[in-house]
Amino acid sequence: MTDSPALTRRTLLVAGSAGTALALAACAPNTSSSGSGTGGDSGTTTPTEVARLSDVPVGGAVAVMFDGAQIIVSQPTAGEVVAFSAICTHQGCIVQPEKTGLNCPCHQSLFDTATGAVLQGPATEPLPPVAVTLDGDKVLAG
Ligand code: FES
Repeated sequence: MTDSPALTRRTLLVAGSAGTALALAACAPNTSSSGSGTGGDSGTTTPTEVARLSDVPVGGAVAVMFDGAQIIVSQPTAGEVVAFSAICTHQGCIVQPEKTGLNCPCHQSLFDTATGAVLQGPATEPLPPVAVTLDGDKVLAG
């Protein structure tokens, strides 16, 4: 048999994440990752605390590091958390949370804080989502 269900599923998961995993993997060194395990078990990741929900303003966002790359953690409504890659889809600068949205300082693209959608170009693609969950006040990614 040459069929490999695990490889197929993994391939689909990577493809389904709209390049987020690829982008993060491309930016993240395989060295010095604390808490991500040792020994090259690349099939499993342990969720990592990236923020405290109480530090994320309702209707706003904060920029944090996850796996060697900056991400944006947003709280669109009280108790709801979403996250996006902070890498601008125009030419790769790092977006920053501001009152009007997620602003790219390079060419002033603006992204929606709650959805990552483009509000103002030149970027045309939304910020890729990053999966996050809540464990009490802890925002976990991975
Ligand atoms: S790199 Fe962000 S707008 Fe150009």
